[in-house]
Amino acid sequence: MIYLDHAATSWPKPPEVLRAMAAFLERAGGNPGRSGHRLSLEAGRIVYDAREAVASLFGAPDPLRVLFTLNATQALNLALSGLLGPGDHVVATGMEHNAVMRPLRHLESGGVRLTVVPCSRDGSLDPGKMTAAIGPSTRLVVMTHASNVTGTILPVSEVARAAHARGALLLVDAAQTAGVLPIDMQSAGIDLLAFTGHKGLQGPPGTGGLILGEGVPASEMAPLVRGGTGSRSEHEIQPEDFPDKFESGTLNGPGIAGLGAGIRWVLDRGIDALRARELELGRALSEGIRNIAGVTVYGPENPEESTSIVSFTAAGHRPSEIGLRLDDEFGILCRVGLHCAPAAHRTIGTFPEGTVRLALGAATERAEVEAAVAAVRKVLRA
Ligand SMILES: Cc1ncc(COP(=O)(O)O)c(C=O)c1O
Repeated sequence: MIYLDHAATSWPKPPEVLRAMAAFLERAGGNPGRSGHRLSLEAGRIVYDAREAVASLFGAPDPLRVLFTLNATQALNLALSGLLGPGDHVVATGMEHNAVMRPLRHLESGGVRLTVVPCSRDGSLDPGKMTAAIGPSTRLVVMTHASNVTGTILPVSEVARAAHARGALLLVDAAQTAGVLPIDMQSAGIDLLAFTGHKGLQGPPGTGGLILGEGVPASEMAPLVRGGTGSRSEHEIQPEDFPDKFESGTLNGPGIAGLGAGIRWVLDRGIDALRARELELGRALSEGIRNIAGVTVYGPENPEESTSIVSFTAAGHRPSEIGLRLDDEFGILCRVGLHCAPAAHRTIGTFPEGTVRLALGAATERAEVEAAVAAVRKVLRA
């Protein structure tokens, strides 16, 4: 089996992640932040260690501003519905995932004004067009850091400057780039960073989070869920403290333990080294697929401008047929169709059939890339 679906979720996870999850359940199974006994304190320590690991990886101002969620979708919903109300203006790009577009369309039906800035056919974004769309009443700008369809990397720092110049906040969807590209919230000017734990960070499903920069006061953001936090239990009103205001209910302790171990795995190897390896393999995959007759590859030709995703169509073949044959005949697992991002497929001109997406990850070997190119060639020949 060759797993080339790392943009959906990474697999296999490093053994350290599995061990950390088992250890949490075996030896630290208390409820973090609730009871005062040793198992609860140990669970709380593991959760705090994971917060510190997240803060250190992303240059977050304070580990307590790392809010754990179940995935990037929940983090994005928290940010969007927590910050936007009727009359507010929000700007998004034409390459967003439905984790951004669906909450935005819902908010739009409740009176939020939405501008979607078109991107080019390779998924790239002209920062000038984004700047022109941001006005004095813009509360928030939301953008993906890299497309889950084409891998195209978007110009976050330029957009941050344009947003701040007009008093707007910048929310970045780092689902595809957390653990894949270097991200420093403070130097890039990112106010809110939504990440998922189960892709590049090597953590298990059911993990992710939202990091709030210093410019985002808790008092200006509503939580998604209200309830028990283990703190200020005498009050029936939701506390205002970080992270408790946004983390009601028992946390996913084993998942967060695994996420912490995944991030430490990434930090130990170094983001730059992981990126260099993926870049080399991504280049080989992209060149190999582009050289097959009848194939159209979407996204930038220069691998430095994208994550290691290769999205393609082939004349005379449906993406679903290619995906099925890669799985059945060659044991190659990839993802076909619209990848939960119809806006991005409209942008690149592949709506409604979508593309075949091959997505590399930290566990991918060079021989697997070569086997994938050979398999696509054979499928398209027959
Ligand atoms: C760009 C992008 N945003 C958001 C998401 C949603 O992530 P999650 O599955 O963690 O909710 C994904 C996952 O596919 C994604 O690729």
